[in-house]
Amino acid sequence: MNKSFPLTGWGSLAVHGGHKKDPLYAHQVPIYASSSYVFDTAEQGMRRFDGKEEGYIYSRWGNPTLTEAEEKIAALETFQLDMEAKGILHASGMAAITTLLLAHLKPGDKIISHYSLYGGTNDILGKVLPGLQISPVISDLRDLTKTEDILKADPAIKMMYLETPANPTIQCVDLEELGRLAKKYNLVTACDNTFATPYLQQPFRYGIDFIVHSTTKFLNGHGTAIGGILLGTDLSFMNGPCTKLHRLLGGNANPFDAFLLIQGMKTLEIRMDRHCRNAMEVAAFLEAQPSVARVNYTGLASHPDHHTALKQMRHPGAMLSFELKGGLQSGIDFMNKLQMCVRTVSLGTCDTLLSHPASMTHYSVPKEEKEKYGITDGLIRMNVGIENLADIIHDLGQALPAD
Ligand SMILES: Cc1ncc(COP(=O)(O)O)c(C=O)c1O
Repeated sequence: MNKSFPLTGWGSLAVHGGHKKDPLYAHQVPIYASSSYVFDTAEQGMRRFDGKEEGYIYSRWGNPTLTEAEEKIAALETFQLDMEAKGILHASGMAAITTLLLAHLKPGDKIISHYSLYGGTNDILGKVLPGLQISPVISDLRDLTKTEDILKADPAIKMMYLETPANPTIQCVDLEELGRLAKKYNLVTACDNTFATPYLQQPFRYGIDFIVHSTTKFLNGHGTAIGGILLGTDLSFMNGPCTKLHRLLGGNANPFDAFLLIQGMKTLEIRMDRHCRNAMEVAAFLEAQPSVARVNYTGLASHPDHHTALKQMRHPGAMLSFELKGGLQSGIDFMNKLQMCVRTVSLGTCDTLLSHPASMTHYSVPKEEKEKYGITDGLIRMNVGIENLADIIHDLGQALPAD
C-alpha cells in the first residue's frame, strides 16, 4: 500500500489494503509455507530476537502471508476513523476469542454479556471460565438501565463482551450506549463483528476496545477455511502482552488459509451489498407467508432491534431467522424439501445456507434453556446468499408447508 495515496473507497481498500510489493515481484501475495526464517549472521538472529531489527523468526510468531491478511482487516476496521489497529490472525474465531479473554481476565474477575451468543462463546463463558474462577454475568444488555444497575453493584465485572447482530437470533445491542456505559465503569469492551463485517459496522467507531471475527464466515466468503482475528487499537498492548500470549497459546493461523482469506476479502463489498439486498427481499417474502409465524430480520420494522441496527449498520446484514408455525416436524420437513439452498450450519458463503437449530446445533440443549435464548422448535436460521433472488424465493416457496 502506498501511504502517499490514501484510498477513499471502502472497496478499493478491500482489494489493496495490507498488500506489500513482493521482493520477487509476484502479483499476488505468495503462500509463505515456511515454519522458520533464516538469519544472515548470528548477530542478525540476536537483533531479531531482541526486537532491534524487524523480521520474521518462526511462523507461530508471524508469517508474511498472515501479515497481509491482518493488515487488510485492520485497515478495513479503521477505514475513515482517525485511529490505527493491530490485528492478530488466529486458527479460528474461537482461538481469537480465547486469546482475548485470557489476555484480560484473571481469577475473581467477572465478564458481562448477553443471552444470544454464538454457542461456542456461550460455552467458553459458561463452562470454561468458571473453572478459572472467572464468572459470567448474562443479562439482556438491550436494557441499559438494568445493565447500569448491574455494573454499579458489581466492581468485579471487568469486561463487557458483545456480539451484534448475534447468532442465532439476530438480536442487536447498542454499541455506542454500551461502550459509553462500560467506560464509565472502567470495563474493557469487545465486540464479535462476524455477522456484520467491517463493511456494515465498525465497532471501533463507538469506542469499543477490541474486535473479534470468525474469518471463516463473510470475510473469507467462500467457506474454504477456518480462521479468526483479534483486533485492538491499544497498539502497545496488542504488540506487547497480547502478542506474547498469542504466541504462547499457539492458536496461530496458517499461510494457506490466510491466502484464501485475502482473496475472499477483495470482493467483500460487492458480496455484502448483494447478500443484504437479497436478504431484505427474502425477509419480506417470508413475512407474507401464512406458514411463517415470525421473521427475525433487523431490516424489518417489526424487529425489536430495527432502530439499533439502522443506527450502527450500513445495511441490516445477510442473516435472518424465521419461525415455522408447525414446530419441530415442520422445521424438519422444510429442511428436507430444499433443492438449491444448502442444509449446513455455517454462514457467510456465496450460497444460501439454512440450518434448523432444534434438530441440529441445539438438538441436545434442554427446551427451557433454548427458549431463554429465543430458540424455538420451528426456528430456521438462514444465510441469504448471492444467487439470483428469484431462485432463492422459488426454493423457499416450494419447501414451505402448504396451507
Ligand atoms: C458469531 C460467531 N463468532 C464466533 C464463531 C466461532 O468461529 P470459528 O468457528 O471460526 O471458531 C462463530 C462460528 O460460527 C460465530 O458464528
